[in-house]
Amino acid sequence: MVVISGWHPHPGQLAFLASEARVRVLACGRRWGKTEVIAAEITRTLRRDAPRQVLLVAPSQEQAMLGFERAVEFLHRAGVRPTIRRTPAPTLALGDSKLWARSAARGGMLLRGRKAHMVIVDEAAYVPESVINEVLMPMLADTGGKLALVSTPRGKNYFYRLYQQGQEDGVHIWSLRCPSWHNPLLSPTLLQMQASLMSARQFQVEYGAMFLDDAGQVFRTEWVDRALQQNLPEEGLMVAGVDWARRQDYTALTILRGAREGAKMLLIRRWQGLSWREQLEAVAGLLRLYQPVRVLCDRTGVGDPLLEALQEAGIPQAEGVVFTPAVKQNLIDHLALMLEQGRLQLLPEPALLSELYHFEATPTHRGARLQGAGGAHDDLVIALALAAWGLPQTSQGAIRTSGNERVGQG
Ligand SMILES: Nc1ncnc2c1ncn2[C@@H]1O[C@H](COP(=O)(O)OP(=O)(O)OP(=O)(O)O)[C@@H](O)[C@H]1O
Ligand SMILES: [Mg+2]
Repeated sequence: MVVISGWHPHPGQLAFLASEARVRVLACGRRWGKTEVIAAEITRTLRRDAPRQVLLVAPSQEQAMLGFERAVEFLHRAGVRPTIRRTPAPTLALGDSKLWARSAARGGMLLRGRKAHMVIVDEAAYVPESVINEVLMPMLADTGGKLALVSTPRGKNYFYRLYQQGQEDGVHIWSLRCPSWHNPLLSPTLLQMQASLMSARQFQVEYGAMFLDDAGQVFRTEWVDRALQQNLPEEGLMVAGVDWARRQDYTALTILRGAREGAKMLLIRRWQGLSWREQLEAVAGLLRLYQPVRVLCDRTGVGDPLLEALQEAGIPQAEGVVFTPAVKQNLIDHLALMLEQGRLQLLPEPALLSELYHFEATPTHRGARLQGAGGAHDDLVIALALAAWGLPQTSQGAIRTSGNERVGQG
C-alpha cells in the first residue's frame, strides 16, 4: 500500500491504514506516530477521485493545527498544491475535497453544522464523549462516513469502552493498542529518559498506552470533561494564581473570572527555562494587561523577594501563600469541589488536562500527599488552585469577601 511516496508507515500505522472499519480506535503511547498516521490518512482521503470532506478535530486549536500542517507537508510531498487558509481557522481545499481542522472546545460549538465523509480525532481521549456522540457522529450519518479516534489512553473513559468493543467486534469497530516502543523510529534513549522523569504509573499510561483505572486520581475525568463544556457567562471579578518555577519546572499563570459559585478560565500559560527576571516580566506583563483584583502567588521556597519584585513591577495586589501540607490540601480540595460541582469552566490547554489527569493523592502516614504523579509537573494545577481560592464567594459579595480570607482556615 503506497500512501505517500517516500513515506513508510511502521507496522502499527500500516494496520490502521489498512482497516476498512467505519470506526477505528487507535490507542498508542506518546511519540508513536499518531499525528503522522492521521496526516497520512487525511492525505490519502483528499486525493481520492470522489470529493471528500474531512474534519480533523483535537482538544485544542493548536493541536488540530499540528495534524493540519503535517497533512499540508504530505500533500506537498505528494506533488499536489492545495489551496490553504489558516485564519480564522485552518481550511484546505484540493479540487472539490476539503479539510477543516478545528478544536473540540466549548462542547464542540465550533464544529456544528457540517457534513463529513471522514472525521479524525487526535488525542480523542481528551475530547468529551458528548462531543463525539452528539456532534461528530451526526455529521457522518448522511454520508455514511468514517470515524477515526487516535489517542494516548486516559483512564477507562468512553475511548476505552470503544477500544474494548473493537477488541470484541473487530468488524464495525476496529481497535489497536500500541506502546510507544512499537515505533521503530523512536530512540530507546529517549524512552529511558522519559521513564526517569515520571512515575511508573504515568509511564505505563503515556508510553505503555495502558488503560489504568482512576485509583488515586484526585480530579475525575468526567468532572474535567464537563468543565471543558461549560458555557458560563463572562462576568465578575478577575483573579490570578501564580506558581513560580524552581529548578526544572515551569512558571505557571492562570486567570479566572467570576466567583466561587461559578467561574471561567480566561488564561492559562506556562514558561520554562527563564531567569527570575524573565519569569517576573512574563507574569507581570500579562497581569498588567488583565488587571485581576487579586493575585495569589506560591511563596514557598522563593520567599518575599519575588513577591516584592512583582509588587514593584506594577502588581501591588500580589499576595503570597506559603504551602504547608494543610494549605495545599485546602486549595486542592477546593478546586476538586468546584470541578465536581460544575462551577468551573476550563480552557482545553493540553498540558493542564494532562496535569489534572496525573495529579494524585498518595496516602502517607501523615495524611495524603498531593502532587503530580512521580516527577509529573503540577505547576498549572497549582496556579489554577490558587486562582480558584482567590475568587470571591459570590459575584454579589465580591467586594466584601475579597482580600480578607486566610488560606489556612478554609
Ligand atoms: N512512518 C514514519 N516515518 C517517519 N517518521 C515517522 C513515522 N511515524 C512517526 N514518525 C516521526 O516520529 C515522531 C513522532 O511522530 P508523531 O508526532 O506523529 O507522534 P505522536 O504519537 O503524534 O506524538 P505525540 O504523542 O507527541 O503527539 C515525529 O518526528 C515523526 O515525524
Ligand atoms: Mg501527536
